Amino acid sequence: MRAITVQDRDAGVGGLSLTEMPYPHAAENDVVVRVHAAGFTPGELDWPATWTDRAGHDRTPAVLGNELSGVVVELGYGTTGLTVGQRVFGLTDWARNGSLAEYAAVEARNLAPLPADIEHTVAAALPISGLTAWQGLFDHGHLATGQTVLIHGSAGGVGSIAVQLACEAGAQVIATGRADDRELVLGLGARTFLDLDADDLRNAGEVDVVFDVIGGDVLNRSTELLRPGGTVVSVAMPPTVQPGNGRAVFFVVEPDRAQLADLAQRVRSGRLKPIVGGVRPLTEAADAFAGRHRRTPGKTVIQIVDAS
Ligand SMILES: NC(=O)c1ccc[n+]([C@@H]2O[C@H](COP(=O)([O-])OP(=O)(O)OC[C@H]3O[C@@H](n4cnc5c(N)ncnc54)[C@H](OP(=O)(O)O)[C@@H]3O)[C@@H](O)[C@H]2O)c1
Repeated sequence: MRAITVQDRDAGVGGLSLTEMPYPHAAENDVVVRVHAAGFTPGELDWPATWTDRAGHDRTPAVLGNELSGVVVELGYGTTGLTVGQRVFGLTDWARNGSLAEYAAVEARNLAPLPADIEHTVAAALPISGLTAWQGLFDHGHLATGQTVLIHGSAGGVGSIAVQLACEAGAQVIATGRADDRELVLGLGARTFLDLDADDLRNAGEVDVVFDVIGGDVLNRSTELLRPGGTVVSVAMPPTVQPGNGRAVFFVVEPDRAQLADLAQRVRSGRLKPIVGGVRPLTEAADAFAGRHRRTPGKTVIQIVDAS
């Protein structure tokens, strides 16, 4: 099968290649999915599990991508809950071969059934972005109705979903990003938009939760905006500055079938609109990952099986 792989840690995005790889093995409680559409995350080359398995052993050549939408074609020994022919979407394991491939072996519990009326290219934009936004805002940030949340990178894959989930939960959203993204983000429901290149972050005022996908100076300066008892949640990096009057959390998104099912229902009912910034074939996945295409808001999705 064809897949986008990496082998050399020092090669950066130039090391991505479209390679012939063996069809994956379905281990206990796995399914093999015929991948119709897949997503990737810009920071994947920096994640330890991209290069090593859970025991720390080199696992290259490694298939990139950790989210998919597709159809189950095989069940592993003892797998229950999903059937061959079923449409599914969800996360692949960080430390195994991923989703930028024609087939992927995934633990069944990492996947949720995909309703027939959601296209694979839309579903592939949901698992990492949707679960990260959900878990960051509610599981780690404990965001509540009426509170104020500052969401950085609000036009990106994670941020654009976080804005929508936070608004629907009844929070006041102050969103940040690039100047070009202002109209899009305000259209998602944010109360205020701050251009990080031009506006003063202190204009956000005091907030109950900071949700950060950028890290560095943006993350550290945001800790000063926290109300007493508030939370800074980062998915980009652990904060190097601790908030004086609240707490800071860095986490890695976890698979969650119930949360995936809820996200799918929100998409069906029109309450959540994943922003699919571009759909590219597998042959262009390396260029998309390397950011060689025109910048678009939202999530770039790789389509592996043509819908027609
Ligand atoms: N820990 C976890 O479990 C987890 C899960 C998901 C994602 N992540 C991490 O979260 C980050 C974001 O992921 P994503 O999929 O949302 O990426 P993305 O789609 O590229 O979104 C990032 C957004 O932030 C904007 N941005 C970045 N730096 C900025 C700056 N200095 N000023 C203004 N805007 C800036 C980007 O604009 P430009 O495109 O113009 O730069 C883009 O709109 C990545 O580093 C990823 O690795 C972590």
